[in-house]
Amino acid sequence: MLQTSLTEMSPSVDEDVPSFVNTATAVVDAVNPSSDDPDWWRSAVIYQIYIRSFADGDGDGTGDIAGVRSRLGYLRDLGVDAIWFTPWYASPLADGGYDVSDYRAIHPAFGDLEQAEALIRDALALGIRTIIDVVPNHISDQHPWFQEALAAGPGSPERERFWFRDGLGPNGDEMPNHWISNFQGDTWTRTTNPDGSAGQWYLHLFTPEQPDLNWNHPGVRAEHEDVLRFWFDRGVAGVRIDSAALLVKDAALPELSENPGPGEHPNTDRDELHEIYRSWRGVADSYPGTRMLVGEIWLPDIERFAKYLRRDELHTAFNFDFMARPWDAEKLRESIDATLAAHAPVNAPSTWVLSNHDVTRPVTRYGRDDSSFAFASKRFGTPVDLELGERRARAAALLTAALPGALYIYQGDELGLPEVEDLPLDQLQDPMHFRSNGVDPGRDGCRVPLPWSGSAPGLGFGPEGAAAPWLPQPASWQKLAVEEQEADQSSMLRLYREALRIRTASPELHGPEFAWIASPDGVLSFSRGDRFVSVTNLSSAPIDLPDHAKILISSAGLVSGRLPPDSSAWLQTQQ
Ligand code: GLC
Repeated sequence: MLQTSLTEMSPSVDEDVPSFVNTATAVVDAVNPSSDDPDWWRSAVIYQIYIRSFADGDGDGTGDIAGVRSRLGYLRDLGVDAIWFTPWYASPLADGGYDVSDYRAIHPAFGDLEQAEALIRDALALGIRTIIDVVPNHISDQHPWFQEALAAGPGSPERERFWFRDGLGPNGDEMPNHWISNFQGDTWTRTTNPDGSAGQWYLHLFTPEQPDLNWNHPGVRAEHEDVLRFWFDRGVAGVRIDSAALLVKDAALPELSENPGPGEHPNTDRDELHEIYRSWRGVADSYPGTRMLVGEIWLPDIERFAKYLRRDELHTAFNFDFMARPWDAEKLRESIDATLAAHAPVNAPSTWVLSNHDVTRPVTRYGRDDSSFAFASKRFGTPVDLELGERRARAAALLTAALPGALYIYQGDELGLPEVEDLPLDQLQDPMHFRSNGVDPGRDGCRVPLPWSGSAPGLGFGPEGAAAPWLPQPASWQKLAVEEQEADQSSMLRLYREALRIRTASPELHGPEFAWIASPDGVLSFSRGDRFVSVTNLSSAPIDLPDHAKILISSAGLVSGRLPPDSSAWLQTQQ
């Protein structure tokens, strides 16, 4: 790991910057929003837990609820307000749990319902809310509904919950249409009748193990609202909605047209979706406290995106536009401006996301020549400068934590973990890899189990004597382990902790105030309120900092009082 501590850089470092983190101003009593704060979600720090890979409590090599419960102190010390769990339900794990076979049961490898309830309680006692993931577009092909539909045959009410269609052509062996899967390849799979003859086809925008549900069916709607209630009754504070813009399809299932107008795409962003989310909002609002709905919405049109955030719909949605941008001041500024402008009319806060369980880790992405993110361009063997990437990821951590709105942190980003790009091919599990015929490395590289202790077997992922982690960790992660980083003042983990502590303690960082400050090309400087300024230098030369009373924190040591390239600083402008 590239460490930029002041001690290492002493000759060129300004004497008057007392330390890399000015703890005198940064240490203010951390205040977690009280449990009855209705606006907790507007500026919350939400930590994403990919449960298979966070911590293994029972020693079987797979992360679980017991592991998370044993590490709640770590999350409290990090300073997060909420944790979001990727699906932890019963599932064949054909797509890492996004193929749910029972929403009311926990996958046995992760624990059980009682443990989930205990976790929600324990976390809340530490001021940490729990957010769960709901996957309404599709379910597992092993879900009883789909099994019943297969057994009941064509024309049955059981099939109405899905998109079963006869095939085209004289023998029905041509797909009903030619939509392309989000995971590449076909979106239709043909079934086999009980007598062995070829049967109807069913639609799946993802893998064949994830049949799409028919959201025109009242039973599908009722069931999901019941699932929401099931979890709200157990104290969850929010729901992340998977593939939230895909649920509704044009029932005629037409072919894709070249340039569909707004709301005219047959399977994305259809206007009927808004009524569904209004109804979900009604369910959420019927509970005490604010139960937050956050949508996974990938849409190029930010105006259409903002429509989901109207007062009676979702509270927030992930801002993937910012995440996908390259490390370039103008492109990031443009995204920040567009994001704030689109959110303002609906009075919704923006979210800031550097990564998640689907995309290339920031340390790796920002170390590439092309530092933008696109699923379609992921390839094995893309050159990367990890030192540069880490430097930029540190700067990006401060930049995003200073922007107005909610902040999402994907587990392991606070450790500066890079994407693992050399996993043995026979251990890859992600369907994105297989469906690309091996061209796309897939998403396993950002899902490798976390390193907790550099000196323990399995880097402390499980207890003593535990089975090896379900994906192998690189040996180079020894020095990135939590224990090692806790002991190193200049580590990524310490940077995140201090940044979040300052953020929690600074009222101006919780409101909407935001104003750009004139700065040289390649520099992003903005104020939040009248005392706080954030500066990020994306240019290739060191820059002078604007007038300030104190440097609260910087992602790299200053050089002769100047902020070096690819780094950020937070300033207090008045005493
Ligand atoms: C979302 C999830 C992703 C999953 C897909 C299908 O994009 O984040 O992990 O594979 O939906 O459910």
